[in-house]
Amino acid sequence: MRSKIPFFIMIPSFLSVITFMFYVFFRSYNRMHYFFHPITVSFFVIITILLFVLESIDNLIFIKKIQSLSEEEKVKIFEENEGNYFYRLYKFIFHDHKKMNHGVKKIDHGFDGIIELDNKLPMWWVHLFYLTIIFSAIYFFSYLLLDFSNPYKEYDIAYTKQMKEIEIFEKNTPQTTTENAFFKKDLVNSGKILFNENCATCHQSDGSGNIGPNLTDDYWINRNEKDLFKNIFSIIWNGSDNNPTMRAFGKSGEIKGNDIEKISSYVYSINRNSKKPLNSKSPQGKKIIEWSNV
Ligand code: HEC
Repeated sequence: MRSKIPFFIMIPSFLSVITFMFYVFFRSYNRMHYFFHPITVSFFVIITILLFVLESIDNLIFIKKIQSLSEEEKVKIFEENEGNYFYRLYKFIFHDHKKMNHGVKKIDHGFDGIIELDNKLPMWWVHLFYLTIIFSAIYFFSYLLLDFSNPYKEYDIAYTKQMKEIEIFEKNTPQTTTENAFFKKDLVNSGKILFNENCATCHQSDGSGNIGPNLTDDYWINRNEKDLFKNIFSIIWNGSDNNPTMRAFGKSGEIKGNDIEKISSYVYSINRNSKKPLNSKSPQGKKIIEWSNV
C-alpha cells in the first residue's frame, strides 16, 4: 500500500533524524561547527531534493496503479485516504482500535473458569514501544562507540574544559608582587585559612612560634623592607637568606602572589594586634618598633 505520510511530515522528520545523528557524532568531539560547513549544508539540500523526487515518483506510481484497479477497490482506497493526514492519523491510532476489537478473540484459561479477552494493543502504545526500542539501540551504541552520553567521558571533557578555564583565568589575573601588595583588612580572614594550611606547622596558627619564630612580637630576624607589611610579604615570597627552613613560597610558585597578600595581611594583623598569644616563643632577632608607613 502507498505510504500515507505526506512529504511535509516525512522530509522534516527524516532531516531531524540526520541532524540528531550529526549532533550525537560531532558534539562528542566538540566539532559542532562542522554542522554549518558548506559540505554539510549541501548534503542536507541534496537529501531534501532526493526526498522530494522520491515522493513524486511514489505519487506517480500510485496514480498509475489506481487506473488498473476495479471500481470496488478504488472506492476502498479512497475511503482509506479520505480526509487530511492528521485526520487519518487520528483514525489510525484511536478509531481503528475500537473497530479492531469488535469481534475479539476470547481465551479460555480452563482451569480457573476465567475467560480473558485477547484485546489488541492500541496503536499509539505499540508505536511508542517500538520507539523506545529504537531509542535504546541508538543510545546503547552511542554509549559504547562514542563519547555521547558516556558519563566518564563527559566528566573528562568537563574536567579538561574547567582546567583550561582556570589556566586562562590565572593568566589574565595579575598576581600581586612586593611592589603593589598592601595590607587589606578584608583579606585577613581568608589569609588566616591559608596561614593554617601552609604556615601553622612551623609558626602555630596564632603565629606564636614553634620551629619558626614568633610572628606576633616586635623582634625580627629578617628585615628586607622598611615597611612592616612589605617585609612580611617579601619574606614569604623570597624565603629567608640565613635559614632555608623558611622557604621561598612565592618564588618557587608554591603560593601565588594574591594568596601571599592574604597571608601577609593576616600576619600583619596578628602582629599589630595588642592582644598577644599567652604562650609564645621567646624573641629572636632585633627589636624593631619604628616601621615606615608606605
Ligand atoms: C618548615 C617550617 C616553616 C614553614 C612551613 C614556614 N616557616 Fe616561616 N619561618 C621558619 C623559620 C625557621 C624561620 C626563621 C628564618 C630565619 O631564621 O631567618 C621563619 C621565618 C619567618 C618569618 C620572618 C620572621 C623573622 O623574625 O624574620 C616570617 C614573616 C614567616 N616565617 C612567615 C611564614 C609564613 C607566612 C609561612 C606560611 C606561608 C611560613 N612562614 C611557613 C619556618 C617555617
